[in-house]
Amino acid sequence: SRWYSCEFPGHSLAGKPERGVLGGGVEALLSYIFTEVIKVYLDLVAVLLPAAGLLQLQDVKKTCCEFLESQLHPVNCLGIRAFADMHACTDLLNKANTYAEQHFADVVLSEEFLNLGIEQVCSLISSDKLTISSEEKVFEAVIAWVNHDKDVRQEFMARLMEHVRLPLLPREYLVQRVEEEALVKNSSACKDYLIEAMKYHLLPTEQRILMKSVRTRLRTPMNLPKLMVVVGGQAPKAIRSVECYDFKEERWHQVAELPSRRCRAGMVYMAGLVFAVGGFNGSLRVRTVDSYDPVKDQWTSVANMRDRRSTLGAAVLNGLLYAVGGFDGSTGLSSVEAYNIKSNEWFHVAPMNTRRSSVGVGVVGGLLYAVGGYDGASRQCLSTVECYNATTNEWTYIAEMSTRRSGAGVGVLNNLLYAVGGHDGPLVRKSVEVYDPTTNTWRQVADMNMCRRNAGVCAVNGLLYVVGGDDGSCNLASVEYYNPTTDKWTVVSSCMSTGRSYAGNNCLIFLVFC
Ligand SMILES: *[C@@H]1O[C@H](CO)[C@@H](O)[C@H](O)[C@H]1NC(C)=O
Ligand SMILES: *[C@@H]1O[C@H](CO)[C@@H](O)[C@H](O)[C@H]1NC(C)=O
Ligand SMILES: *[C@@H]1O[C@H](CO)[C@@H](O)[C@H](O)[C@H]1NC(C)=O
Repeated sequence: SRWYSCEFPGHSLAGKPERGVLGGGVEALLSYIFTEVIKVYLDLVAVLLPAAGLLQLQDVKKTCCEFLESQLHPVNCLGIRAFADMHACTDLLNKANTYAEQHFADVVLSEEFLNLGIEQVCSLISSDKLTISSEEKVFEAVIAWVNHDKDVRQEFMARLMEHVRLPLLPREYLVQRVEEEALVKNSSACKDYLIEAMKYHLLPTEQRILMKSVRTRLRTPMNLPKLMVVVGGQAPKAIRSVECYDFKEERWHQVAELPSRRCRAGMVYMAGLVFAVGGFNGSLRVRTVDSYDPVKDQWTSVANMRDRRSTLGAAVLNGLLYAVGGFDGSTGLSSVEAYNIKSNEWFHVAPMNTRRSSVGVGVVGGLLYAVGGYDGASRQCLSTVECYNATTNEWTYIAEMSTRRSGAGVGVLNNLLYAVGGHDGPLVRKSVEVYDPTTNTWRQVADMNMCRRNAGVCAVNGLLYVVGGDDGSCNLASVEYYNPTTDKWTVVSSCMSTGRSYAGNNCLIFLVFC
């Protein structure tokens, strides 16, 4: 038989089929029986699938399920899940359930989520498999769900908060957000959960492990994010090799090589693509930009930057890719440019106040931060930091770090900006400091296991990974990660195949959501 489907991405499955649709269902089935051609669309499936079940048209039922699976979207997956449950479509039920867990942050914004019953909300938020950047998403989802029908739902606060893993949230968030929430204040059981979380934070690290509660267990999403990509670098000369770390298999493997040699490039992940921006090709600082599609395992060149830059910082702010500072072969740069993926064009924005090569950049709270680096003019490694507001197109100095850091790795975790390692002259650091934008202060956290500069940094599942770099004499193949809850660094057992540094200056690693 032949099948046609009309797709309306992002539509919900209608609760009750309308009469027209019911007629459509009968018509479609008759047409199928006589011609073996059927036209499937979302509302129609709501009547077609039960009818197909009744008439034992297994082919039709199977196709309906496959169609619904192809339509899964954050706005409709909970409805499709309920529908699959009602009609005993086990496979579809599991797919919709996994989809909801993997897109939790978007699903909780949907009408379907706000209209779930208490049991279903508890079952969803108690899952270990939720893919979330932070436990905040779960807390905010609970508050939004209760506020949707506050008079009726506030009595469920304690039952819901039982599944929110408050100990995994940063102290600042517990004090500034959770404790201030009226719904929490009004429930003594919720206050007990808050005390449990505070106690967890007060305990010395080794005693925290002894505190066994469902709320101190890390969520362990299955699929996402899955790969970390390390692009080019110098080992010891500029190379084309690209490696991927699979978090599930816990091993490294090679993927498609760069079109040309590149090290000291800026790297970002944007719109499903990895961008390698500028850098050094072994003889020249380049303007060129390549993008990698992890699904096709293929590299493509996009528009050149306006300026040549190596050891630049690159980051994504409001959907634009920014290339910040760097070195053009003769001087350090203060200039900054942005790339619009839709028009495939680069344009200059306001320059920084300071020339910065080997600069680390990160985005927190809608602002772009440029951290330390090397000022070619005064020949100094820098401890100064400035931040860019795209609305005003202005750079402003913020609090300085406690030490000079050039080639520091910069990463963002839980709305805090981390500056990892780097060097001041010949001294390569293992120290790490973290910036809190709400207080404009830096504070020291635990040292890494190794001294590193020009390493890559990224946040995965609430941990901050630092990859490669060099310790002043050797390129490093090792990877370590920081757990902010325990304030500890742990070395990953599997190393890259080659030690490399400068693989995308300060951020050589990217998460690819497969
Ligand atoms: C606190 O909770 C009680 C019972 O659940 C409710 O009647 C009362 O209105 C709540 N007060 C506030 C300020 O929300
Ligand atoms: C570096 O780039 C320049 C200009 O694009 C090119 O002429 C040169 O051959 C490249 N060098 C290497 C080693 O690829
Ligand atoms: C950028 O500056 C404008 C004007 O001062 C301000 O309203 C806005 O909140 C700033 N943006 C961020 C993300 O802080």
